[in-house]
Amino acid sequence: MKRTLLTLLTALFILPALADEGMWLPSLISSRIDDMRAKGFRLTAEDIYSVNQASMKDAVVLFNGGCTGELISPEGLLLTNHHCGYGAIQRHSTVEHDYLTDGFWAMSRAEELPNEKLWVRFLVRMEEVTDRIAAGETADEIVKKAEAEGPGYKAAVEQMYYGNQQFLFVYEQFDDVRLVAAPPSSIGKFGGDTDNWIWPRHTGDFSLFRIYAGKDNKPAAYSPENVPYRPKRHFTISTAGVEEGNFTMIYGFPGNTQEYILSDAVAYIAERSDPAKIAIRTGRLDIISKAQESDPALRIFYAARHASIANAWKKWQGEVLGIERRGTVASKRAYEEAFDAWAQDKPRYRNVVAQLKAEYARIADPYFAREITLETLGALPIKYSAKERAEAVFARRKATERALYSLQFGEYAHRCPAQFQIPEFLDGVARYGSPEAFADTTAATALRSGTKRMLDHITWLTGTKSLRNLNSKRLNELYTTYIKGLREWDAERAFYPDANLTLRVAYGTVAGYEYADGEYHKPQTTLDGIIAKDNPEIYDYDIPQTLRDRYASKEYGRWAATIGGHKTVPVCFLATNHTTGGNSGSPVLNASGELIGINFDRTWRSTMSDVAFDPSICRNIAVDIRYVLFVVDRIGGAGYLLKEMKLK
Ligand code: ARG
Ligand code: GLU
Repeated sequence: MKRTLLTLLTALFILPALADEGMWLPSLISSRIDDMRAKGFRLTAEDIYSVNQASMKDAVVLFNGGCTGELISPEGLLLTNHHCGYGAIQRHSTVEHDYLTDGFWAMSRAEELPNEKLWVRFLVRMEEVTDRIAAGETADEIVKKAEAEGPGYKAAVEQMYYGNQQFLFVYEQFDDVRLVAAPPSSIGKFGGDTDNWIWPRHTGDFSLFRIYAGKDNKPAAYSPENVPYRPKRHFTISTAGVEEGNFTMIYGFPGNTQEYILSDAVAYIAERSDPAKIAIRTGRLDIISKAQESDPALRIFYAARHASIANAWKKWQGEVLGIERRGTVASKRAYEEAFDAWAQDKPRYRNVVAQLKAEYARIADPYFAREITLETLGALPIKYSAKERAEAVFARRKATERALYSLQFGEYAHRCPAQFQIPEFLDGVARYGSPEAFADTTAATALRSGTKRMLDHITWLTGTKSLRNLNSKRLNELYTTYIKGLREWDAERAFYPDANLTLRVAYGTVAGYEYADGEYHKPQTTLDGIIAKDNPEIYDYDIPQTLRDRYASKEYGRWAATIGGHKTVPVCFLATNHTTGGNSGSPVLNASGELIGINFDRTWRSTMSDVAFDPSICRNIAVDIRYVLFVVDRIGGAGYLLKEMKLK
């Protein structure tokens, strides 16, 4: 009876790792290879990850700690998203040389632009160290040993399954990474925040960098003497194109998922946390957008900040919609109740669900307080550096910065549960009469910087740290047990560890989906869709004249394709790969391991895959490599770059 109930519940609600759910550890990919091959993959586990020979992992990098990039030439040429290179592009931009608006194309190696504090990491190897840690070695010792193995080596021990297993990751880090090319934002960020997280999509979200190394091909700090890095491996590019049903694989660094959390946590996210954070960010975005509209220098200055605030703001909205629409709270609840029923005669697991629930109830308020603190006070600069204050744009920013202080102090006072408000904040409000009045004097001090009063403010802001990682230890211990129990109970389910910014493989197929009743979304978009959206009145939709001209003359060269019966250029495509933030810039590969696109987004509601992957709606969005090459060649006039790539 129990068995039948379980099967029924599982079939109804969870469909374990059916379809294309999962982010797999490359060193353990042999356990998935049969399934991958059944879906069309033609290579081996050793081709994906090997410590003995060059493998695909040697062509993938963690890009600056938040994105992925891939090597596409023997001379260190690296492809990632435009939004991943955005900060670098912005820092090289001025009102006179506005690479954000106009794009940037280095026409020779000498024109490639160095970037302070931009780095990439290759995975040298990974290995399980659970036994070493159980035997008494500490993570620190393991890391130190690994980092001594080579110049530029970085290592980390990461938890999998809430600490049920530990893995060592050894990386080689390069710090001389130069900007080679970026399309104009009207291509690279086409559609801006309006189209962000949305399908159909027409964004040419790519930029090109080059890794430089010392003459010995080893990591070296920036120097004009450095030479292009010669990678162990780079991807061949396929221009054959994609079709619905084709196998796709994504190799990259997904940042953070929570696939095994209880229904209580999902309800907290969808009902309490996301809505509050969305409302606060709406206010911040209003202030920043107004400043940007009023002043071109401020438009550039706030560009990256606006994009990053808007990105999560919109993602959370989609996540809430997805969770509601797919009934995720109810399905998770049914799943954990079935587990709990099974656990009743197992002393080790009998109480774990109840204890997790009790723990959630206990920490909900303080945890919420922490989130609100980080979104309000924690998101304000506590001081402006002397360098920043010397910049010409600083005087023009002041009014905006003050408005942000005022809004965020007000939101903190209003939303943070009173018993968790920082005493120094409450004192300040009492002294000045209101959160806004307190914000005014604080902002004035911060904008002037360097005074003694400033130091007091820093003290209260760092007070927020006491709310950090609140009780996560207890929760983590309970989850360690819960996951262990789940894996025993639901043995058929293909478990994979949550994303934690370690290298993963996801695989699936090019696929559309039913967006709404009777409304099917096809998996491919084309240049025709860009032309349809083109609007010179709107910054994000005002495409370069050269793109209009190419369209008018249909001079697409070898990048043309016949789609929907007519000649066009493919732009983006959808697939079923399980991805998350951090997978931006990841190579999208075909069955032969050749590059067919760059991952950059998910569809709006499918962002719920961070807590539950639903195969009916979860889709990642990639830019078609043929559009990337078309733009490099026909819009950027940087066709010389194609010569160092291997096109097929
Ligand atoms: N949504 C994508 C990601 O999560 C792209 C973000 C950049 N684009 C933007 N319009 N803000 O990072
Ligand atoms: N754009 C995201 C990133 O920066 C990837 C999209 C997602 O969250 O899936 O990593």
